[in-house]
Amino acid sequence: MCGIIGYIGNRQATPILIGGLRKLEYRGYDSAGVSVWNETEGNSRVVRCRGKLAGLEEKLKAEPAVGTVGIGHTRWATHGRPSDQNSHPHKAGPISVIHNGIIENHLALRQELAGAGAKFSSETDTEIFAHLVEHALIAGAPDLTTAVRRSLQKVRGSFAFVVMSDKEPGTLVAAKNSSPLVIGLGDGENYVASDVTAILAETRKVIFIDEGEMVTVTRSGVAITDFEGNPKTREPKMITWSSVQAEKGGFKHYMLKEIHEQPRAVADTLVGRVDLENDDVSLDGLELDVANIKRIIFIACGTSYHASMVGEFLVEAMARIPVEVDLASEFRYRDPILGPGDLVVAVSQSGETLDTMEAIREAKKKGAKVLAISNVLESSIPRLADYAFYTHAGPEIGVASTKAFTTQLVAMALLAIHLGRRTGKLTKERARELLADLVALPSKMRDVVEGSAQIQAIARRYGAANGCLFLGRGAQYPIALEGALKLKEISYIHAEGYAAGEMKHGPIALIDEHLPVVVIAPRGPSYEKTISNLAEVRARQGKIIAIATRGDNDIGGHSDDVIIVPDTALELSPILTVLPLQLLSYYVADFKGTDIDQPRNLAKSVTVE
Ligand code: G6P
Repeated sequence: MCGIIGYIGNRQATPILIGGLRKLEYRGYDSAGVSVWNETEGNSRVVRCRGKLAGLEEKLKAEPAVGTVGIGHTRWATHGRPSDQNSHPHKAGPISVIHNGIIENHLALRQELAGAGAKFSSETDTEIFAHLVEHALIAGAPDLTTAVRRSLQKVRGSFAFVVMSDKEPGTLVAAKNSSPLVIGLGDGENYVASDVTAILAETRKVIFIDEGEMVTVTRSGVAITDFEGNPKTREPKMITWSSVQAEKGGFKHYMLKEIHEQPRAVADTLVGRVDLENDDVSLDGLELDVANIKRIIFIACGTSYHASMVGEFLVEAMARIPVEVDLASEFRYRDPILGPGDLVVAVSQSGETLDTMEAIREAKKKGAKVLAISNVLESSIPRLADYAFYTHAGPEIGVASTKAFTTQLVAMALLAIHLGRRTGKLTKERARELLADLVALPSKMRDVVEGSAQIQAIARRYGAANGCLFLGRGAQYPIALEGALKLKEISYIHAEGYAAGEMKHGPIALIDEHLPVVVIAPRGPSYEKTISNLAEVRARQGKIIAIATRGDNDIGGHSDDVIIVPDTALELSPILTVLPLQLLSYYVADFKGTDIDQPRNLAKSVTVE
């Protein structure tokens, strides 16, 4: 997603900013820009460009940005399409701003500022902050730090900002809430960045900024305060990672990093959608004609297909609208019966999968409306659909999908609650409980991913297995499929996911003392039945790894290993139960030494049929 870098010192800023942005490129972005303060002109020059950094560098050759103070940004569009105008930095009077995250109350602030005479030149939420700071200075804030502090009181959402002023060019002011921010310390020069990777070529001495803190950076020092202005002290840390590791945030593989990023990704996907005051969900203002939806058909491929299967369970349970799920690659070849009462929901993290795209064309041709759920703004599938709803997982680099999947599950829950409130089948009270559980998910997810030592030990024991069976019922059945898919994708061990009740109709023949069987059995209406299946496996000497709910003291008696996940609403439990399965696959593959981030024969985005 977006990347931030700032420099203040005695060297030319532009090459340092571009060098830093280059290190952040792997995250994915659609435009880039810098603002550099020119001492001779007494003004900062903003140079921005839609597209890759190479384009920005070309522009900078034609219009050099000369000076020793500057900020730079790579943007992954959220509010406003990728364009030169929407690229950061944004300027209002003497103020230049770069921003990661989302200002949730941007519409109200835009109106307020427009009423006070502000003229906007972009569609972004970020530009609002530049105007807020400018207005705070006009209204008498004595310095840039105070103006930023006063402006922070007005914004809601997740952000990391860096602000520069032509009137106070010896200072950069940065603030953090939810989005990462780090300060790099040099000798007579300092840096600000969204990720240590961006500054590691320049310094290894860093200070990580905490939630709700802001920082004033000059050539000679760094002053950290909270948003009220109370000083904070923080010892610098020395970074010892290699820069390759740092790009993976210190993790051995992108996949492991992305597994650990899931609490953040889920929190980002919830921002601005959960309306706790009205026990409702806003789908970013989408106006689905819910009263006239007679049937929903999910179409997707791979992991997105498994998310869609969970979607079926959630939408039917909460909204009582009939749902079908189809593989995009099958859908259009059977001349599907479709009409105006159908809503087709096309799920694709990349937004580029060709089969899904073609299925959408078929659906539209037959008069159905199409809603796309995607992680990539402006990708082909959301552009083709009638409506688009985005997950905010950030770019996923590991080919095996992890955070894209859990954020898709969150999107399914949001869609189901939204529909359920409108069909009247989901009571306000139940919606309130579900929304409270949704909001509590990121910290529960953190509990699971941080407890990976136990899973690592289990993986070591089963790394030499020739096959593995995954069993689940209800919404855990697609999770069994997903667990099996993850294992085969990255460890090349044959694995099958099965509805636990179907085990007796075939896979039971495979069970012997060599076969690990992962049974997903959180507490819920089918718990007892799943335990019976577990007993059937055990009676045939199969090795059982159970995924169970905290407080379940019985399941241990039937299993070789029990991995515990926190309790949550039944409908949301797949978002927790899939985490140990991702970690299990990861560690099995790691012990086998396979190419985890780029497994053989697989592609991240499949643009052929
Ligand atoms: C490829 C990827 C999978 C993904 C599938 C569908 O096979 O390796 O991780 O689930 O495509 O991709 P989509 O971008 O449409 O979700």
